[in-house]
Amino acid sequence: MTGQPTFDKPFQDRLQELFLWRRDVRHFKTDPLPKGTLNQLLETATLAPSVGNSQPWRFVKVLDPVRRKAIRDNFEACNKDAMKDYEGERAQSYASLKLSGLDRAPAHIAVFCATETKVGQGLGQKTMPETLKYSVVSSIQTLWLSARAQGIGLGWVSIIQPDEVKKILDIPHKDWDLVAYLCIGYPEEEHKVPELVRKGWQDRLPLSETVIER
Ligand SMILES: Cc1cc2nc3c(=O)[nH]c(=O)nc-3n(C[C@H](O)[C@H](O)[C@H](O)COP(=O)(O)O)c2cc1C
Repeated sequence: MTGQPTFDKPFQDRLQELFLWRRDVRHFKTDPLPKGTLNQLLETATLAPSVGNSQPWRFVKVLDPVRRKAIRDNFEACNKDAMKDYEGERAQSYASLKLSGLDRAPAHIAVFCATETKVGQGLGQKTMPETLKYSVVSSIQTLWLSARAQGIGLGWVSIIQPDEVKKILDIPHKDWDLVAYLCIGYPEEEHKVPELVRKGWQDRLPLSETVIER
């Protein structure tokens, strides 16, 4: 087929660097993204695989400052509550972590899964209905890497109450479940090592702990 790309060794090496340098970002510059960039990233996100080609991802661009503040307030409350699960040094360590970039990120995207979509006619979901949400996650990962390749950071916020977020955003679709709330913008710093590793919260696991053979 003409136009078929060749992913040569230099490209493979660069791609590996992209994986190594992708980071969950919580420290953002407030500079806005160039016009059209967010739409282009969302377009790329929709190239992700999905069960039965169901494309269940639904993206909500959260623009309204009042709604953004309500989301931030919900995060603050949930974060305070989560802190109670830890004691002593762990609690102090948790309190010192910055666990969202909601305060500064120029773009906020809430990502939902349309859990009753008829698109794809149920193919692949009978035995594993959860694959619909896995499909949405794959679109987020695609967006994440595409953003990083352009020097744009993404931070995934899960310390929020999905039903509250749905109310705050006035989502009329009963079957939409929240999968992620994303902060997107230019990072203040670039790092090869995850922030939670740098802060001594949780190290990376060696492959030997995550792979078994049968
Ligand atoms: C499903 C999911 C939810 C996450 N939620 C949060 C969150 O609420 N706050 C936060 O600071 N990081 C969150 N993260 C980011 C992880 O902490 C981060 O991916 C992990 O520490 C590894 O760092 P890295 O992404 O920079 O490699 C989340 C990541 C995933 C995949």
